[in-house]
Amino acid sequence: MNEEQRKQLVEEINALRRERNAVILAHYYQPPEVQDIADFVGDSLQLAQQAAATTADVIVFCGVHFMAESAAILSPEKIVLLPEKSAGCPMADMIDAEDLRAEKAKYPTAKVVCYVNSSAEVKAESDICCTSSNAEKVVESLAGEDILFVPDANLGNYIAAKTNRPIRVWAGFCPTHQRLTKDDVLRSRREHPGVKILVHPECREEVWREADYVGSTAGIIKYAENSPDQEFIIGTECGILHELKKRCPGKKFYLLSENAVCPNMKKTSLEKVRDSLLNLSPRVTVSKEIRERAVGALERMLEVTKK
Ligand code: 13P
Ligand code: SF4
Repeated sequence: MNEEQRKQLVEEINALRRERNAVILAHYYQPPEVQDIADFVGDSLQLAQQAAATTADVIVFCGVHFMAESAAILSPEKIVLLPEKSAGCPMADMIDAEDLRAEKAKYPTAKVVCYVNSSAEVKAESDICCTSSNAEKVVESLAGEDILFVPDANLGNYIAAKTNRPIRVWAGFCPTHQRLTKDDVLRSRREHPGVKILVHPECREEVWREADYVGSTAGIIKYAENSPDQEFIIGTECGILHELKKRCPGKKFYLLSENAVCPNMKKTSLEKVRDSLLNLSPRVTVSKEIRERAVGALERMLEVTKK
């Protein structure tokens, strides 16, 4: 697409956004040109907060399916659009409601903490949700309780280590972050001696144990912005570089691995955003029955985060 075509598309999106009274939300892993047209770019928690609070009639969710689904649960009266309907999250698909019910039957007194990267049906079986930026706070809100953490084992184990709590984790993982290994850490340290490594807690334990900072995408951006250092090694999905470069002009960022690409996050395009606004489709909805059972876990998470 040349610059002229891009400008034309952005104009069409802007006109439709006004006409539909729509808000465009984009995750930090989205392609740069999509992040640039969003009303709000953020991590999973910030996007859920925006979706819960918006006064728009239409939410265009530039992200993956579970994010749009959470928006539909939190704002059932809104039209929630996911520009590419096949944009899913393989980690969210690693547990379903039946798996979780079987696990709960084994540990009937345990509280279920469910990473937002999960289906509405799994949320409906859970006590409270969390994201990578509030997982520690959420676990700490369950003082004295046994905890089942689904579906991300890496994040669950990281929070267990951080809070010193025994947490039973489901063996799910993010295929994108799982590609980053300790060898990447060792090679990066050799190539950039003295440069701090900032990683996402979806990384393997062998990676987060070696890192200088572990946090959500918003946490990594904040750390880089506030640090006096001028160079950083980044262990998360490559889309984050766009916001890092915007917020920290002059600072240098090296990816821990060039393999850190989430193919699902890259399915959104400007054309698809335009078409979704034009056709009000693909729309993400959640049945009343599931929504009523899932909304509590998301609302409890938002409540705990405020404290
Ligand atoms: P955060 O947005 O919480 O950093 O999580 C990253 C992620 O993998 C979203 O799919
Ligand atoms: Fe799912 Fe990982 Fe992609 Fe996030 S980066 S959407 S967790 S596959």
